[in-house]
Parts: sequence; C-alpha cells; structure tokens
Amino acid sequence: MDISPEKSLDTAARIAAESKSLVILTGAGVSAESGIPTFRGENGLWKNYRPEELATPEAFRNHPALVWEWYNFRKNLISEKSPNPAHYAITELQHLLPDVSLITQNVDSLHNVAGTINLIEMHGNIFRARCTNCGKTMEYRRTEDNSPVCSFCYGALRPDIVWFGEMLDPVIVSKIESVLYHADTMIIAGTSGAVYPAAGYTDYLLRRNKTVIEINTEKSGREAEKYLMLTGKAGDIFPELSRKIKSIKEKEV
Ligand code: OAD
Repeated sequence: MDISPEKSLDTAARIAAESKSLVILTGAGVSAESGIPTFRGENGLWKNYRPEELATPEAFRNHPALVWEWYNFRKNLISEKSPNPAHYAITELQHLLPDVSLITQNVDSLHNVAGTINLIEMHGNIFRARCTNCGKTMEYRRTEDNSPVCSFCYGALRPDIVWFGEMLDPVIVSKIESVLYHADTMIIAGTSGAVYPAAGYTDYLLRRNKTVIEINTEKSGREAEKYLMLTGKAGDIFPELSRKIKSIKEKEV
C-alpha cells in the first residue's frame, strides 16, 4: 500500500474495524516489552546455545538434563513477568470486533494471563509437560528438577513444546487452517518469520487477496497491494490501534 507512515495507523484501524473475521499471529516480539528476550535478538542465546540446538528431539534424547535446565531457566524468568499493553490491547480488540482469533508462537502463557480467548498456542506451553512413555500431558510449573518423571507411570517427562523437526498437533493444525481460511484480515506482530509453518501464513492470506497488517520494530521490506507495515513496538501500536478502532465503532452507533 502506498501511503504515508502517519496515515498507516489510521488505515490499519479502518481496515480492522471493518473486518468480519480477524486473525492475529504473534511471536516473541510481543512479549519483548514484558522483559522476555526474543529468540533471534539480543540475549537470545542461553549459554551460547541457539534455540535450534536445544529445542529438538535429538538434543533431548542426547542431553535431556541440559534441555530441562534451559527450560527451567526460561520458566523461572517467564514466571516473574506480566503481560504488557500489547497483550491487553489484543484482548480489548476481541471485545470491539465481531470475530478475533489469536494464533501465537509464544509458549509463555502471557496472552492467557491477559484474558485473551479464541487462543491457539501453536508451539505449546512452557508450563506444561508431556510424558514420553504414556503420552499424558499435564500442567508442570516446577523448575528445580532437570530429570522430572511422570507421576502416573514414572516415564521421563519432556516440555509440552513443539520442537524443530516435529509436526504440530493435527487438532491444532486443523484449527489454524479453519481460522486462516475464514479470516478476511490478519495482523502479524513481533515475529521474524524465520520458522515454518507460521512463516507461510502471510503469503497464504495475501495469495487469497486478504489484507495483512504487520507490526514489528524492523521493516520487513515486503511489497504487496494488500500488505501494510506498521513499524514500531507492539506495546505502543496495539493500544493505539485499539483506541482508534473504538472511536470508529463509537461513531457508528
Ligand atoms: P524471533 O526472535 O525470531 O523474532 C522476534 C521478532 O520480534 C523480530 O522480528 C523483532 O524485530 C521483533 N520485535 C522485537 N521487539 C519487538 C517489539 N517490542 N514489538 C514488535 N516487534 C518486536 O521470534 P519468533 O518469530 O516468535 O519456537 O520465533 C519463532 C519461533 O522460533 C519461536 O516460537 C520459537 C523459536 O525457536 C519454539 O519455541 C518452538
């Protein structure tokens, strides 16, 4: 879209206000202002490991205690953090618009804490574990054990997270497909687009002539007729967007 930056937020608000079915896709950048480091930004490394080295079934098979140590470190960090204005503004959008679903790649639960509904946690949740023996999943908040076992069968527990090289849960996949199929507009926020399948959702919507609004601190450089870039922090832009949509809706009545 060929519009000046100061008009882009107004345009985005108008588009979102008219949306009958909006899908929001979030990534680590939306939690950055809560104090949780992004994966590919500053402080993204833990003990010099990249996420691709630890978030894999192979890493867990060969070094389960190391992988649990990393997750326990992150659980401790995340459990001290709270949702930021972006999380709350997304929940507010769900009260202003007829149909808003949220797909998140984040595993930190902050959208949940902020009260968001219609939430799909596509990569799992860091406060859940799954038994590698009996397959049961459970809430698991403890952080002191680097080799936890299942309380039902004593099999080894693993974080209930989708790792690199693993398939998403088919139930989650079909929910995502349905939401993307029915959406007329998508807001994608705080994600580098480095990890599939989420990285493919923008093109899927644009190919089907739907509008995509991106919120990121870095410009993507993407060009498409129905694509609009809002450069800045999610914690500034989402509340502003919500305020503008609210004022449009108030004028409608
Ligand atoms: P990344 O760390 O790859 O990207 C974070 C994005 O957020 C970057 O594009 C930043 O420019 C942007 N950003 C940073 N601060 C921001 C802010 N305040 N407001 C808006 N944008 C901001 O994170 P993801 O794309 O979420 O997988 O990473 C995808 C997946 O890779 C993660 O879900 C994780 C990881 O390995 C698993 O855990 C399975």
